[in-house]
Parts: sequence; C-alpha cells; structure tokens
Amino acid sequence: MKKLKMHLPENSDCRMAEGMNQLKTNLMFCGDNIHAITVTSSVPNEGKSAVAFELARTLAENEKKILLVDGDLRKSVMVGKYHMEGIDKGMTHYLTGQAAWDEVIYETEEEGFYIAAAGPLSPDPTSLLNSELFEDFVKKAKEYFDYVVIDAPPLGLVIDAVIIGQSTDGAIVVIEQGVIKKKIVQDVVKQLKMGGIRILGAVLNKVDERGGVYGSYEYKYGYGYYGDDKGKKHRKHS
Ligand SMILES: Nc1ncnc2c1ncn2[C@@H]1O[C@H](COP(=O)(O)OP(=O)(O)OP(=O)(O)O)[C@@H](O)[C@H]1O
Ligand SMILES: [Mg+2]
Repeated sequence: MKKLKMHLPENSDCRMAEGMNQLKTNLMFCGDNIHAITVTSSVPNEGKSAVAFELARTLAENEKKILLVDGDLRKSVMVGKYHMEGIDKGMTHYLTGQAAWDEVIYETEEEGFYIAAAGPLSPDPTSLLNSELFEDFVKKAKEYFDYVVIDAPPLGLVIDAVIIGQSTDGAIVVIEQGVIKKKIVQDVVKQLKMGGIRILGAVLNKVDERGGVYGSYEYKYGYGYYGDDKGKKHRKHS
C-alpha cells in the first residue's frame, strides 16, 4: 500500500480526546456488527470532517486497522487541511473505473490509520456514490479493516449521506451546539430513518459550556436506534 505524509494538528485538547474515547466506547456498545460508520450533519461547517478524522485516529489505537474515507466528493478539504502529500488517486478515480479499490488507500505515518481521499471533485457525486462500485468498496474495506469511517456531506443540502449510509452499518450525526434548531436535526434523523439507516448516536460539537471553553466535543448517546436494519439493503436513491 502506498504511503502518504501529513501534518497532524496538535492534539492538545484533552476534552476532545475524552469525547472521542467516549464516542469509541459507546460505538462498541452498539454491537459487534458495527464496522462501517458514516459521519454526517444537517448543515455545513458543524465539524463532520474533524469528528470523522479524530474518531478514525482514536479507533486506530490498540492495534486496530482503520480506514478513513473522504466521502465528500463535492467539497473535500481533507488533503489540504492536513497537508497530505503523496496522494495521486482518490475515490473519484475508483468510482469512475480509473483505479482499483486498494489503489486509493494510503497508509499514514500513524500505526493502523489509513486514508482514502476524495480525489478530483466530481460534477455528479450522487450518481458515483449510488453505484455498486461504492457498495463494493465498503464491503472490501470492511474485510480488510476493523473499522471504516466515512466523512459525508451535510444532509440538509444533498442526499449523498443517505446513499453513503446505506452501504455502512450506521451513522453518527454531528450537531453544532447553539446553531442548529431542533427541527432541522429532526429532519436529518427522519431522512436517515427513511433511508433505513441506523443512527448510532450524535456528537454535540463546538460545545460552549457555561464556564467552559468553546471547542470541545461531547458525545451524546441519546438517539437510540432509529434505523431498521431489515429495510436497509437495496434502497438506493436515484
Ligand atoms: N470542536 C471544535 N472546536 C473548534 N473548532 C472546530 C471544532 N470542530 C470543528 N471545528 C472547526 O470548524 C470548521 C469546520 O469543521 P469541519 O470542516 O470539520 O466541518 P464540516 O462539517 O466537515 O464542514 P463541511 O460541511 O464544509 O464539510 C473548521 O475550521 C474546524 O477546524
Ligand atoms: Mg467536511
């Protein structure tokens, strides 16, 4: 597998590490059949990519192998944000038949932590994701990795996260505290539920606790199971 170089952010926020560990623990309690996880939110900028990245890194501890997939084929920032070098093929190459599944997976300098970047932005990401190729990618990745974490676009704008979610075992909804109205979150939950996607939980992000400091992650384990696994397969959107 090819290797990439990246510059990771300073991991000095212990509340963030705490939140991620809590999220990891709670995911373990969702059952041992949860190996592919979609991360989404209602609107842009709530912190999906940050949560997906940190969750993948946290899961990679204890000799586990984790793949983080950048599923935001519209507005990927991962490569730029973490100054990744050495990537020449991404998901859009794979989804258009220009690369094999394992050609878009890169080993990072962190033990057990692998990344598949988005690749060149696609004019029609929904169709690319709504394909057997994508489903196959997740299937194969699940055989090879202990966990596959997929960073998806916000559901308030496009349906991609539902399509991505249908190839995974459930979704985590990131909610930016104080910004998102309850009704908007309810709509996202409804969309996921209608797509047959199990909701594994929600992350309350950018928490501005009274007396606390802006910028922490908090894991809220409150949504229970909205999805119905039975209806999950073959309900793709076109
Ligand atoms: N817990 C946090 N504390 C402080 N800043 C944060 C936190 N989480 C995310 N951010 C910042 O908020 C911005 C948006 O984060 P991120 O790119 O992860 O959001 P996103 O939901 O993936 O956005 P998009 O919908 O555009 O993909 C970034 O500048 C990021 O550094
Ligand atoms: Mg993002």
